[in-house]
Amino acid sequence: MNKTLIYAHRGASKLAPENTMPAFELAAAAGAEGIETDVQLTKDNVPVLIHDENLRRTTNGKGFVQDYTYDQLRLLDAGSWFSSKFSNVGIISLDEFLQWFQKQAMVLNIELKTNVIEYKNIERIVYEALKRHQVLDRTVISSFNSNSIIRMHEINPAVRTAFLTSTKRRDLVEYAKSLGANDLHIKHRLLDKKLVKQCHRANMDLRIYTVNRPNMMKKCYKLKVDGIFTDVPYEALEYRGLHDK
Ligand code: G3P
Ligand code: MG
Repeated sequence: MNKTLIYAHRGASKLAPENTMPAFELAAAAGAEGIETDVQLTKDNVPVLIHDENLRRTTNGKGFVQDYTYDQLRLLDAGSWFSSKFSNVGIISLDEFLQWFQKQAMVLNIELKTNVIEYKNIERIVYEALKRHQVLDRTVISSFNSNSIIRMHEINPAVRTAFLTSTKRRDLVEYAKSLGANDLHIKHRLLDKKLVKQCHRANMDLRIYTVNRPNMMKKCYKLKVDGIFTDVPYEALEYRGLHDK
């Protein structure tokens, strides 16, 4: 059992606008071992990094990601909502991100945002991008949508996947296994010792989101979960250092 890996959730999203290059660069600078990011598809089928289906919250645009081409989305300001310091920051494509990520000594979690809109072919499109950039061997692909997990394994059974959930159910580990998922990603309130044991017995990694509070970080380290997703990777690293002593 290795140490709990720290994934920067949407990048170092407490310090910079989520899912943008500054947030990813700050995560790398902080020493996070991994990055988690969310993928949606544009009207012209370009995978882009943005959490919401709608542009309203994190850009100066209106309406849905899927109704705009990538060239249209690139013109939007995806930073000012966070701070005027980031007014020149835009939405990036998965390809742009991977060009940078490829050179980082980090692991990756791509979350397919298919729980609200089931973007046609998103699994294939994302798979091809990861393959092209040769990062499949250090990527886990997750989704709240079971169909995305199944479809990903139909494309290539060797891809590492994780079923993502915030819903408590007794047979969670069995259910995730039945989908073919390799790992389980859960909301922090579902975490208990029993689940950690069940996952490890089933040879699955267990990762927890979103872990921003010191008490929850400590609980995760104590229970030896495999990874946490945090908006504050620098703090999580510091607490992990203290815990290891
Ligand atoms: O992948 C973990 C976590 O990001 C799932 O929830 O809403 O933050 O994408 P959300
Ligand atoms: Mg996410």
